[in-house]
Amino acid sequence: MCRAAIELFSSFLLFLIIHNAYSGFEFTNLKCISHNESFSTFEYCFLKAINRTYKYASIKVKLHEVPIKKVKVNFALYQRLNGYKPFLYNVTFDGCKYLLNMKGYPVATYIFNLFAPYSNINHSCPYDHDLIVEKLPFSYINDQMSIILPFPKSSYAFFSEWYSDGIKRVRIECYGTLT
Ligand SMILES: *[C@@H]1O[C@H](CO)[C@@H](O)[C@H](O)[C@H]1NC(C)=O
Ligand SMILES: *[C@@H]1O[C@H](CO)[C@@H](O)[C@H](O)[C@H]1NC(C)=O
Ligand SMILES: *[C@@H]1O[C@H](CO)[C@@H](O)[C@H](O)[C@H]1NC(C)=O
Ligand SMILES: *[C@@H]1O[C@H](CO)[C@@H](O)[C@H](O)[C@H]1NC(C)=O
Repeated sequence: MCRAAIELFSSFLLFLIIHNAYSGFEFTNLKCISHNESFSTFEYCFLKAINRTYKYASIKVKLHEVPIKKVKVNFALYQRLNGYKPFLYNVTFDGCKYLLNMKGYPVATYIFNLFAPYSNINHSCPYDHDLIVEKLPFSYINDQMSIILPFPKSSYAFFSEWYSDGIKRVRIECYGTLT
């Protein structure tokens, strides 16, 4: 009986450890900012909780001046300590070159992989359609963050700034916690 109790307790501990490591990512806020509404507008940009385990983010940006042939992207990650401090990544790269050959940009690929499978942006330039990130599950991001590269538990902010023809067009701010 004692042995059974120990086994039960061990599997409970194991459950806690696994649960701890793999189920803690939550978006807390999502902000989409269009710097120039004659260039682009957001049709939607929201977080939704279907139930405790299924929560997702969706974004749709309408592009009013297509085709887009030149894209520059800045991704920056921040960790919340006393305010948000730059953390690990701050990369700026040519989006169209990246899409032609993803091999040379490991950080961009890491970040791209966090949402690309749920979007329609994974193709080479030009872009002549609205851009969508559809029902990106928190659990998917959590898997990417904790399995591929373990991040410390903390609050994070991820800012992305999108340029075309050298002009700042769109900014997307994601806030989340890994607990
Ligand atoms: C917004 O974009 C339009 C079209 O590209 C451009 O004509 C206009 O000057 C831009 N406005 C600002 C404030 O940048
Ligand atoms: C949460 O909702 C999803 C989608 O509707 C469903 O597949 C899943 O079983 C639900 N989970 C729980 C715990 O209710
Ligand atoms: C990211 O890098 C750019 C230039 O490479 C710089 O202008 C910007 O301030 C940096 N941002 C952070 C948060 O370090
Ligand atoms: C992007 O598309 C390429 C080519 O179809 C595919 O090999 C790659 O896995 C895709 N990447 C993501 C993150 O979906």
